[in-house]
Amino acid sequence: MRMIDIIQKKRDGLALTKAETTWLIEQYAIGQIPDYQMSAWAMAVYFQGMNKSEIADLTMAMVATGEQIDLSDIPGVKVDKHSTGGVGDKVTLILAPLVASFGVSVAKMSGRSLGHTGGTIDKLESIHGFQVERTQADFVQQVRDIGISVIGQSDNLVKADKLLYALRDVTATVDIIPLIASSIMSKKIAAGSDAILLDVTVGSGAFMKNMLDARLLAQTMVDLGNAVGRKTVAVITDMRQPLGATIGNRLEIAESLTVLQGGGSPELRQFIAELAQIMLSLAGVEKSVDDILENLSNGAALEKFKQMIQAQGGDLDELLASPEHETIFSKSVVSTQTGYVTSFDALTAGLLAMRAGAGRAVKSDVLDLDAGLRLFKKIGDYVESGEPLFEILYNKADFDAEKESQVLLDAISISNEKVEIKEIVEII
Ligand code: URA
Repeated sequence: MRMIDIIQKKRDGLALTKAETTWLIEQYAIGQIPDYQMSAWAMAVYFQGMNKSEIADLTMAMVATGEQIDLSDIPGVKVDKHSTGGVGDKVTLILAPLVASFGVSVAKMSGRSLGHTGGTIDKLESIHGFQVERTQADFVQQVRDIGISVIGQSDNLVKADKLLYALRDVTATVDIIPLIASSIMSKKIAAGSDAILLDVTVGSGAFMKNMLDARLLAQTMVDLGNAVGRKTVAVITDMRQPLGATIGNRLEIAESLTVLQGGGSPELRQFIAELAQIMLSLAGVEKSVDDILENLSNGAALEKFKQMIQAQGGDLDELLASPEHETIFSKSVVSTQTGYVTSFDALTAGLLAMRAGAGRAVKSDVLDLDAGLRLFKKIGDYVESGEPLFEILYNKADFDAEKESQVLLDAISISNEKVEIKEIVEII
């Protein structure tokens, strides 16, 4: 086969055969296809799309370029969860122990923050001593012993995706639904779980900015998972505003701990309980949302969280003694208006938290794990003039808190009309 023929075929709107797709990915993964040809193919996909079987062929060819985690030694149905990214998204930190508290094993590999989106692995690293890099054997053993492990993605998983994603990032070919779906699902399939819950976020703080794209991505990934025997469900969730009451690594660990200790906002508890209900159902365990909320109140989910921290070397005593770490500087910002919050732009808040040190503008940036934002009012809340809206926590002396506060204030709207917001918009 010749790469030029494959590019030409895709450019002309024809579907590639399984043999062609497999060859293309295999050869790229071993360095036999140069980046310039691969980027021409990716751009052809941008304009011509891919049909269902091409996407499935691409995904499975990608899976085959790396290690595949074998979870078969762990009894029962193993469930995984993936979010397409958000602001203040601490779902995994609460959901994984909650699901595990019902005896359903959660074996999860998570990512790091980039741009306005946070990463679970960075959040976990804000717990002193917590190890996110584990051997496959340790990962499997831990899930077998306590029913839960959350680690960073192994470097050996889906090698083709690592190369292709880096290439897409610099050739304006990231926002292509078939390529996003195959990138995400190849990693989920290689990670070995039997069932997968996909959280496809939509809104300013998300990858997918509108419902049409979110639905298409969700359906494409659900079809892919089910086609290869992984029970897959997607929820489309609202990411117009940040999730929960904090943005930032240690801050989100502290908020998660509060929820696991029976506190936190009722909306966040309800949202996570609804997600848990779906994940449990994928494992054949049917529970009411009330039953699930009970495990957030009675300490059962908290116990799983503590077990995971200890199993992965985290300093539980330090975390429980001082969940939040003080920063050198803070700036509290009050409302100048009275009324209901009608919008609280997630992207603006995420970028502000990133500039305060909580996120990475580029992969090599070093995080300030304690920096971030506390949010006192969210969409639907009533606020009086002079009441606090948010607080910025930071350690950088050169951070212009005055200017940054104004940027976020401008991204919050307040009016006389109360707007309702529901986290789960649709289930696919
Ligand atoms: N996340 C991924 O893992 N891959 C993509 O292509 C986009 C987002």
